[in-house]
Amino acid sequence: MIPRRPEPELMLEPEQARAYAEADFAAPHEGFVDAFAEAFPGPVTGPVLDLGCGPGDVSLRFATRYPDCEVDGLDGAPAMLAAGDALMAGHPAADRVHLAEGCLPEARGPRAPYATIISNSLLHHLHDPAALWQTIARDGAPGAAVFIMDLRRPDTTETVRALVAEYAADAPPVLRHDFEHSLHAAFTPDEVQQQLAAAGLEGFTVTVTSDRHMTIVGRLPETA
Ligand SMILES: C[S@@+](CC[C@H](N)C(=O)[O-])C[C@H]1O[C@@H](n2cnc3c(N)ncnc32)[C@H](O)[C@@H]1O
Repeated sequence: MIPRRPEPELMLEPEQARAYAEADFAAPHEGFVDAFAEAFPGPVTGPVLDLGCGPGDVSLRFATRYPDCEVDGLDGAPAMLAAGDALMAGHPAADRVHLAEGCLPEARGPRAPYATIISNSLLHHLHDPAALWQTIARDGAPGAAVFIMDLRRPDTTETVRALVAEYAADAPPVLRHDFEHSLHAAFTPDEVQQQLAAAGLEGFTVTVTSDRHMTIVGRLPETA
């Protein structure tokens, strides 16, 4: 197993943010909402917290799928939030999506406690992954539904290269570079299990969902 090699936490570069916001993530991001719906069947109402929301594409797709919810997105990178302006402009769900600048774990969801918390592709950015689990435990309501999707670190450098070749061959160089570095920075399912145990969230389930992804799903305890 190759060792974890962290990457910069925040995506601060305007060129990086623009390329990310312009990339076509329709399939994986709709897949994120589909997988949430499978894990938590039924309606979603009230405010939802999207941690590390970036330009807000997942926030918008989630708000579109669940017309009775509002989504509060938090991200520490002004460039990523600004890159989302083009996605928001004229989008029918934009009035129910509120993105704000804030760095975990200091930043709080503005309407905490939340009954639903989602996060896509944030965990591998965090130098200290406890920041995510602390934020969820602090800002989630008792029994809150929590749905996280992230990359998982491959066993070998050769597998990293093969995944980049398979999934990012035609991507702009900045995104190819980010994908490769993100795979090296990602955690393994076993490492996430250990993080959850340390955070008192051992009831959550870690599931490998593809050759590069995992989901982490559960409900916060009903009592503190
Ligand atoms: C790969 S992007 C994912 C964006 C979005 N969730 C999506 O799926 O399109 C990861 C995001 O996490 C943000 N991020 C990283 N560390 C953070 C922290 N400590 N607090 C808040 N945001 C953070 C980065 O700035 C970046 O926008």
